Amino acid sequence: MRSTPRDINAVHDPAAATSRIQIRGLGKYFDELCVFDDIDLDVGSAEVVTLVGPSGCGKTTLLRCIDGLVAPSTGEVRIDGAPVVEPPEGVAVVFQHFGLFPWKTVFRNVAYGLRMAGVSRRAIAERVPAFIELVGLRGFENSYPYQLSGGMQQRAGLARALAVEPKVLLMDEPFGALDAQTREVLQFELLRIWDTRPTSMVFVTHSIDEAVLMGDRVVVLKGRPSTVHQVIDVDLARPRTRATTTDPRFHELREQVWNLVMSTPDDHNSVER
Ligand SMILES: Nc1ncnc2c1ncn2[C@@H]1O[C@H](COP(=O)(O)OP(=O)(O)O)[C@@H](O)[C@H]1O
Ligand SMILES: [Mg+2]
Repeated sequence: MRSTPRDINAVHDPAAATSRIQIRGLGKYFDELCVFDDIDLDVGSAEVVTLVGPSGCGKTTLLRCIDGLVAPSTGEVRIDGAPVVEPPEGVAVVFQHFGLFPWKTVFRNVAYGLRMAGVSRRAIAERVPAFIELVGLRGFENSYPYQLSGGMQQRAGLARALAVEPKVLLMDEPFGALDAQTREVLQFELLRIWDTRPTSMVFVTHSIDEAVLMGDRVVVLKGRPSTVHQVIDVDLARPRTRATTTDPRFHELREQVWNLVMSTPDDHNSVER
């Protein structure tokens, strides 16, 4: 049975009570193209929500509405109750293609968000090495991105996002450009890091395994325009480790999400305004 997004949130009252991100009736048009419509979603202050949906369904656009870089056409996003109308403080993004400044060293890339926030040089000198260490890049502080593998560049991207100690972490297919082995290593590292400092995280991925492994809930976007088709609770214990992937429940959930993603869309709504 298909429930409406509002029904789904009602089921999640505990999370909603402490929700950090509130998305209400969110819709986005690019000229005549309605990318998504009527999206309602709450994300808790220590919750990972993963987003899956076909390419072009608006996942990146939705993240950009949360980080204030794209203005929604309808509805609104609130963070801690405040409407997002410009890039809010405390929101950090990790991009698929790393997004590092090629002319800056690892240290300066990781320091970037802190410098923008006006943190003193001295505090930066103290804090940045800790985050470089956290992501396993000690010894590469003075390297430039071109001197690093893809996995190492993404570690630097992660350290840069974490260094500002964000209350909201937005991940846009962060491991999508990596080889399978590196991707797996980084998934478990991110899980380990998140466990030490849980935060509100929206994680976009096209990997169903990754969506189930990382998420407390998996949101399946679907339709034209897309909307929240289903929300699946991931009742797998944390901390999640490699052993999680051999849990029969992991496989059940993966199948469930797979079937939802693959089933024929039942809601080809008009895209006319
Ligand atoms: N700035 C823009 N101007 C016009 N169309 C855009 C813009 N950004 C995204 N789109 C369109 O919106 C749709 C959703 O894009 P996107 O959010 O990148 O999807 P996803 O991340 O799910 O692959 C696509 O059809 C894309 O072409
Ligand atoms: Mg995208």
